[in-house]
Amino acid sequence: MTDTSTASAGSVPLAPRAWPLLGHALPLLRYPLAFIMSLSGYREMVRVRLGPSSAVMICDPDLTRQVFLNDRTFDKGGPIYDRIREVIGDGLSTCAYPLHRRQRRLCQPSFHPTRLAGYGAVFARAATNKAGSWRDGDVLDVTQEMMTLTTRATMETMFSGALPAETMQRCLADTAVIVSAFFRRMMTPALLRRVPTRQKRRYDDARTRLAATIAEIIAERRADPTDHADLLSTLVAAVDEESEDGRRQLNDAELADEALTFFLGGMETTAITLAWALHLLATNPDVQHRLKAETDRVLTGGKLDPAHLPSLGLASRVVTETLRLYPPAWMMTRVVREDAELGGVRFKGGSTIVLSPYLLHRRADLYDEPDRFDPDRWLDAQPDRRATYIPFGAGARKCIGDQFALTEAILALTAIVDRWELTPVGDQPFQPKVETSLSSRGLRLRLTERRSSGAGDAERSAAAALSASVQPPTQPGAAACPVKHGK
Ligand code: HEM
Repeated sequence: MTDTSTASAGSVPLAPRAWPLLGHALPLLRYPLAFIMSLSGYREMVRVRLGPSSAVMICDPDLTRQVFLNDRTFDKGGPIYDRIREVIGDGLSTCAYPLHRRQRRLCQPSFHPTRLAGYGAVFARAATNKAGSWRDGDVLDVTQEMMTLTTRATMETMFSGALPAETMQRCLADTAVIVSAFFRRMMTPALLRRVPTRQKRRYDDARTRLAATIAEIIAERRADPTDHADLLSTLVAAVDEESEDGRRQLNDAELADEALTFFLGGMETTAITLAWALHLLATNPDVQHRLKAETDRVLTGGKLDPAHLPSLGLASRVVTETLRLYPPAWMMTRVVREDAELGGVRFKGGSTIVLSPYLLHRRADLYDEPDRFDPDRWLDAQPDRRATYIPFGAGARKCIGDQFALTEAILALTAIVDRWELTPVGDQPFQPKVETSLSSRGLRLRLTERRSSGAGDAERSAAAALSASVQPPTQPGAAACPVKHGK
């Protein structure tokens, strides 16, 4: 499309303080969130430069939605996905438009609601065991603990049954190395990325080892293809009925890419969501107190169960609000496949577009007091056709694991808060470490065991009064998934 009445992407205003040669690489590496928020004054779009190349950041929810919905033109690509592709090849989250629909059809059955019920039981058990492994007075490395929890739960839902402890530990360490390298590699020019530094060797070794571990698990499953009621069984059995012969299945290489995609995509994002949620509860004791009242009312001394999910309204809103304030995928990129127009601007094929949930979620014209943690802002929120709340993206490329993650996070929060009171360590505000995701690395919290297992009378009646006035969502995360407005 080349409408001469539209302006070219080169005329989009350039963000201030671009350095010669480096452009905005330094502020993006040193203080990315402050830099991103400094762009919120641009209502529609703004150009940022990374060395010689430039990208247009979309600041407007309607334009963001248009990009998400037109995934044929605004395709997966750009610096983030190029780096992720190094590890997971052409898996569902990285593949380009021509491959996507077929892959989505093959993967979708793994996330069917009937499968989720079984996964929920695994999540509840894993979270209860994790919460039972701590001691009174412990100071937790929260992110590390949440990573072990979600790795175990992901492994179990994907590959039914816990892996040997040594394999688990290795997967965890390799994943941490890979994930923390993504953002640095994304910002590093191609030539420098090839220099054989110690960091690069660690990254390459971790990639090779993790791929080998997953390949080994797949080979074992091929040798015993009975339905293990786990994610891998569904992937192995998936048939694309819309393929030419109606029988197309995933081959070994595709299976490995998808397994790695789910493993890396699912584990870290959910772990850091949980870590941020615990941080927000520790720094907002009133909400934590109300959440404990909810767990007392719902669990009534019994075992945590996925059947409790519809009654865990506050836990669900805490997760929704956490994902607003700290969306793990704080920035996403797209590549323009062919010349296209967006918001009156002409983009040439090959241009890079940046979308930022972090920016939209903290805009004062979209959310009252956007920096305040207020789970109750979601009490009567209505679905919004604009992309104002996009922690899972939107359109055809929307996260396939959204319900999986929400179920896991709500159950884990409930198990933890039921047993432990969380308080901050020290009085310094904790800041995110910005990597490919909005990392909570380094977050520490103190645990105090709740002495009485049941709620006091006052807490019980407060919880009862609250539940009378609040209709909890009817399904896990119902408050979070449709794109909606925060006011
Ligand atoms: C809180 C946790 C999670 C968050 C915040 C999250 C976020 C996202 C976002 C923002 C996207 C879209 C990216 C884009 O459009 O560029 C996405 C896609 C995806 N996510 Fe998640 N995710 C989470 C959990 C999971 C889990 C648990 C899994 C799998 C077990 C998963 C697997 C995927 C896959 C495969 C895609 C690509 C979907 C497609 O392109 O069709 N995610 N996720």
